[in-house]
Amino acid sequence: MPLSKKERATVAVTGVTGALGGRVATRLADHKVPQLLIGRRPELLPELPGAQRRGPASYADAGDMRKALSGASTLVLVSGHRTGRRLEEHATVVQAAIAEGVDRILYVSLVSAGPTATYLNARDQWMTERYLAGTEIRHTVLRAGWYTSTPAALADEEFVVRGPASTGRAAFVTHEDIADVITAVALDGDDRSEHDGATLDITGPDALTLDEAITRIAAATGRPYRFEPETLDEAFARRWRQGITGEQIETWISWYQAIERGEISTVTDVVPRLTGSPATPISDAAWWPEPKTARGVR
Ligand SMILES: NC(=O)c1ccc[n+]([C@@H]2O[C@H](COP(=O)([O-])OP(=O)(O)OC[C@H]3O[C@@H](n4cnc5c(N)ncnc54)[C@H](OP(=O)(O)O)[C@@H]3O)[C@@H](O)[C@H]2O)c1
Repeated sequence: MPLSKKERATVAVTGVTGALGGRVATRLADHKVPQLLIGRRPELLPELPGAQRRGPASYADAGDMRKALSGASTLVLVSGHRTGRRLEEHATVVQAAIAEGVDRILYVSLVSAGPTATYLNARDQWMTERYLAGTEIRHTVLRAGWYTSTPAALADEEFVVRGPASTGRAAFVTHEDIADVITAVALDGDDRSEHDGATLDITGPDALTLDEAITRIAAATGRPYRFEPETLDEAFARRWRQGITGEQIETWISWYQAIERGEISTVTDVVPRLTGSPATPISDAAWWPEPKTARGVR
């Protein structure tokens, strides 16, 4: 029997060498979806059944991205690293997708994305969202919640996390739950989807203070993680003494301040609604990173 349009649809995935895109690609391969895995260093892309490795293609390079996207019907665009030109880079990928006749884009953004978001990394995510909204292409915005792994990765060698937050809450979510939601939307490949034009905030099941989150991580790992709140002045002085740049200090402090201001605290039903399973509590996360491995907020 000939394959249906839905079964033939090829999904291109970016960010596959990373934590989130890699998980999405593995899940799509499990569902036997034909894929194009796109990366800057194709030799690092995984070998998965039904998947072609494409690249080298960086978001900023329109020609390489067009070549890499040729034949795709859906693009899962995982947001890139913050470079100061992230909007331009993402816009280049979107234009390359349109030029190659891609039907729809699933853009992986960040919860709290907004022009005045406290967390600095969330601001240009909003600009990409607005850019997409101004194009004709079908798209869904998947705003990833903050990873359950990040508080553990922020700890120092003695498992202490320090930062300027005390009573604010965050609905941390696992990479696995985020990848499951993205996969569910990608698999919904009909000509129309209820997710077209939607913005989905993918969150964990509870809004926790950092103290609560880190106490649960300690119980789950058996390691002596603990949280010590700092004033803004203490936070700044400690980071400055460590020789960290002003931009990094600002980004790092803004991560805690976004929690303190409640900007990450909303709990949504997106994970259970789209995956059919409850969102994973922080205590049940599948893995934990080593201390001092947080990217961008060190
Ligand atoms: N939800 C959260 O808590 C959270 C936390 C941190 C970051 N984020 C955001 O979510 C994205 C995905 O998270 P993640 O954990 O999967 O991050 P990750 O492990 O750092 O992976 C990022 C992926 O994006 C690729 N990439 C970055 N910039 C690119 C560019 N200009 N052109 C082409 N590829 C590029 C990287 O490729 P290379 O291997 O070539 O570098 C890598 O495959 C991050 O990039 C960041 O925007 C979210």
